[in-house]
Amino acid sequence: MKIDFANLNMQYKLYKKEIDEAIHEVLDSSRYIMGPQISELEKKLAGFTGAEFCIACSSGTDALLLSLMALDIGPGDEVITTPFTFIATAEMIAHVGASPVFADIDQETYNIDPAKIEQAITDKTRAIMPVSLYGQPADMEAINRVAAQKNLPVIEDAAQSFGAEYKGKLSCSLSELGCTSFFPAKPLGCYGDGGAVFTSDSELALKMESLRVHGQNERYCHKYIGIGARMDTIQAAVLLAKLKHYPKEIELRQQVAGMYNFLLDDLVVTPIVRDDRTSVWAQYSIRHKNRDLIQDELKKAGIPTAVHYPMPLHLQECFKYLGYGPGDFPVAEAVSEEIMSLPMNPFLTRPELEYISKALRQALGK
Ligand SMILES: Cc1ncc(COP(=O)(O)O)c(C=O)c1O
Repeated sequence: MKIDFANLNMQYKLYKKEIDEAIHEVLDSSRYIMGPQISELEKKLAGFTGAEFCIACSSGTDALLLSLMALDIGPGDEVITTPFTFIATAEMIAHVGASPVFADIDQETYNIDPAKIEQAITDKTRAIMPVSLYGQPADMEAINRVAAQKNLPVIEDAAQSFGAEYKGKLSCSLSELGCTSFFPAKPLGCYGDGGAVFTSDSELALKMESLRVHGQNERYCHKYIGIGARMDTIQAAVLLAKLKHYPKEIELRQQVAGMYNFLLDDLVVTPIVRDDRTSVWAQYSIRHKNRDLIQDELKKAGIPTAVHYPMPLHLQECFKYLGYGPGDFPVAEAVSEEIMSLPMNPFLTRPELEYISKALRQALGK
């Protein structure tokens, strides 16, 4: 048996007619930049999350950058984030000239620990940027509470959690700003790069709309120094076609995760999702001391795996100048040594999941 990790091809085949039509409509219209599909998508995405405004943009990375720029964060400022995430989160903080300040993670959810955020706040802190890792929202209520005490904005890096629920609300609408990614392998992906920022603050929304097009407020009048971060119309068309199927796909992902939990609970550390939230399962990540051996054995059985993430950000060469070292964030360090992601997509079948579980059992001699 050969297992597909994200199975994007199956998804395309299933919705091919609608997606092809949507793409051809853009091709026929020749409105490749900022065509009407962009604002249609923004309205639908805002409606989906419950945030008032959505600004579609060129990637999840640029969504983070637009948020930080909108808040005027720059040199001399500190932004608190997690060391256990994809590089873009801390990278964009550094890109605007601010310093990423890390706070360790919770050992069950792998999301930033609100108590550790409190300890990391200084008089230079300008924002808090939690990440809703693997599809499960961070503890946003506790984080918002810590932030409110110091009047700090919270930017949720929701690149992996679009569609996830938290205490009856949806990821991307849980704080001042929420940023997501539509990278193809994300739970809701387009066919290239894409992203979006969400907010219910009209001033921030207006500013980000302008920052996205070189700080322009009228044609060739530039109020801010911005960036070129528009989403391509074709990507908006793909997302509009796929959005219709997304609620069903979330359900299927949750069923796959439930089946994995059932099959693997006694073998490895399976993911923990808190009772007050859901995950959209961007990744299904397990932990085991013998991760490398498991990966090798699964590979032999035709089962692809990945590690998200093998090295926490405070130990990355590019962040050496921040002065962190091994032992500074023990939970993130321990998790990064044992974590691994199994194939996850809405189309995994029960026989495939049983095959993966059997291969894992064999790898561990059980
Ligand atoms: C947590 C996190 N933040 C940011 C990004 C950046 O998104 P993009 O690849 O769309 O720039 C990603 C995705 O790759 C991510 O997983």
